[in-house]
Amino acid sequence: MTAPLARFRPTNLIHGADYYPEQWRHVPGIWDADMRLFPEAKLNTATLGVFAWTELEPAEGDYQFAWMDEIMDRLHASGQRVLLATPSGAKPNWMAVKYPEIRRVGENGQREPQGFRHNHCLTSPVYREKVGQINTRLAQRYGRHPALLGWHISNEYGGYCYCPLCKASFRDWLREKYVTLDALNDAWWSRFWSHRYTAWEQIDLIDEYIHGLRLDWKRFMTRQVATFIRQETAPLRQHAPAVPTTINLMGHYDLYDYHELAPEVDFISWDSYPVWHGQESAATPHWQIGLETTFLHDMFRAMKPDEPFLLLETTPSQVNWRPLSPLKRPGLHRTSSLLAVARGSEGVCYFQFRASRGSNEKFHSAVVNHDGGNDTRVFRDVRDLGQLFQKMQPLLGSRARPVIAVLHDYQNRWALQEMQSPINQQKKYFETCLEHYTPFWSLGQGVDVPGQSADFSRYRLIVAPMLHLLLPGTAERLTAFVENGGILVTTYLTGYVNETDLCFLGGFPGPLRKLLGIRAEEYDALPAFRQVPVEPVPGNRLGLAGSWAAKEVCELIHAETAEVIATYAGEFYAGTPAVTRQATGRGAAYHIAARMSPEFLADFTAAILREAGLVSPLPTPLPVGVTAQTRTADDGREWLFLMNFNETPATVPLGPGTWYDLETAQVAPAVIALPAVASCILTNRPLP
Ligand code: GAL
Repeated sequence: MTAPLARFRPTNLIHGADYYPEQWRHVPGIWDADMRLFPEAKLNTATLGVFAWTELEPAEGDYQFAWMDEIMDRLHASGQRVLLATPSGAKPNWMAVKYPEIRRVGENGQREPQGFRHNHCLTSPVYREKVGQINTRLAQRYGRHPALLGWHISNEYGGYCYCPLCKASFRDWLREKYVTLDALNDAWWSRFWSHRYTAWEQIDLIDEYIHGLRLDWKRFMTRQVATFIRQETAPLRQHAPAVPTTINLMGHYDLYDYHELAPEVDFISWDSYPVWHGQESAATPHWQIGLETTFLHDMFRAMKPDEPFLLLETTPSQVNWRPLSPLKRPGLHRTSSLLAVARGSEGVCYFQFRASRGSNEKFHSAVVNHDGGNDTRVFRDVRDLGQLFQKMQPLLGSRARPVIAVLHDYQNRWALQEMQSPINQQKKYFETCLEHYTPFWSLGQGVDVPGQSADFSRYRLIVAPMLHLLLPGTAERLTAFVENGGILVTTYLTGYVNETDLCFLGGFPGPLRKLLGIRAEEYDALPAFRQVPVEPVPGNRLGLAGSWAAKEVCELIHAETAEVIATYAGEFYAGTPAVTRQATGRGAAYHIAARMSPEFLADFTAAILREAGLVSPLPTPLPVGVTAQTRTADDGREWLFLMNFNETPATVPLGPGTWYDLETAQVAPAVIALPAVASCILTNRPLP
């Protein structure tokens, strides 16, 4: 990092939208209407300049800022702040023609024609220089503009480039990392199928059969994006050191290790486009979309756990790029927006303010649609939320402060993706993390979703599902966490490979064997029609009773020093351990050897929460599909968001203690009645 961090501390809850005035420059009356409609929609922020490069530099070196000067001033006059984007997400045609090296090359070796967006080479010195030039001019010109709230760097960085420049740079990076080819060959186990490299230049194909190579390629591409961001932000930090920078990340995107990108910016933003009301199977309850969206908020927030984040893009109603996009039903806009704020977002922004007239996104919903006025359901939904945000000002600056973590790690996700194994069709890493997260959500317990390099000392309970790949130091840090009183939960497939995907020798879970007190010998892959019962050991210390089903993966383990909590009760491995506990120092480490049913995870999670002394904010269980999420202010005031993600009503008893309703400022009733897809905000102290 070249400059000290600028802090993201907005003075209002942000309510904003991506704004493309350049598309309407030559259409009379539109800018005037927009300046009226922004405040009417109770918006206070515009994201400006995303993809605007051809309007800012229509020919090489011919910078045209007059239109942006005018719109910055007009937005300021109409009460808006601006998140100003750098334009690198889409390059101008003239540049692509003059400098072919900036066009990305696909895995097939073919250079892509100029089209679409997000299609530049990540390494090209020419592109980096061009981006540096325009960013410098933007920083010099607008760095002190009173409307400027932050820098939006590029847009949704994505993809890989396989051009000769990228490959050469990859080889340089490998030389630095491994120094000798022998070390590289050992780390990649490349004698396999006669792949041993005898000259650096032979490293060309990103061969899917050499997993160490694939992991290093993904790390390298992540590094390219990180250095690209660093180059983008350098002039911004130089000319506007107090203005915070952000990148907008994408929910399920995993081509980069986002944890490695986070330090490059001052605050994290992400773009959330859940399939509300449109789940693929009628059997999937609607609330699961709320659950998954919460998980993603918790994942992005945990990338900078002490900072607020921002929901930088969401749609006011429908998207236009899915096979099917239902309208947002009444209540959903409010509840999904409040969910973001509940998890620590300092506001909500939309893609997009005004629907474009032509091209690819004209039928994507917008705050202002093609009829151009304010008399639409979507506009009213947006305005109502803006009005509510004004009432919510007192909670600005409070934070979600979880002491529970469910780990989700990108490098581990890559290793599981690459792995050829007995469970190829049912690896389900993300789904498994979500399954372990679900009981916490249902009990109203706030959770962080960090990667394995996070600071573990801030947590009291860590669940690390399927932590197959262990980076150097992870096992030691988890051991220290448990010794210091933490409770750790691991599962099958933990501790099998190292950083370059080499199996740990001498017994799984490798460097965690002592901490878990077990040895994992092999694992069974179960087809869907076969399940294995699991039963608790009578008198087990968690007080677990009953019987549950294991599905899909059953690891066969030996309890070396661990205490057995539950055993398999079927198959040839009946009687062998399925759940174990090993005490170490002041804490304990549990291992769940099989992919267990939701019923088991609910019972087990409730028991370890009791052991950790973590109580839910409300009487539990909450009704299915309802969650309670808390933000806490520095002075201890709590803001409790109750959200019903069911498409049917629900009632929630509040239990002892007095809660106040933020919207009415009155004492809340003892039982809260929530209509379908509805939410309310309570606080534990009277409102001023
Ligand atoms: C986002 C992108 C926006 C817009 C939006 C449409 O991924 O950043 O520019 O395309 O999708 O939903």
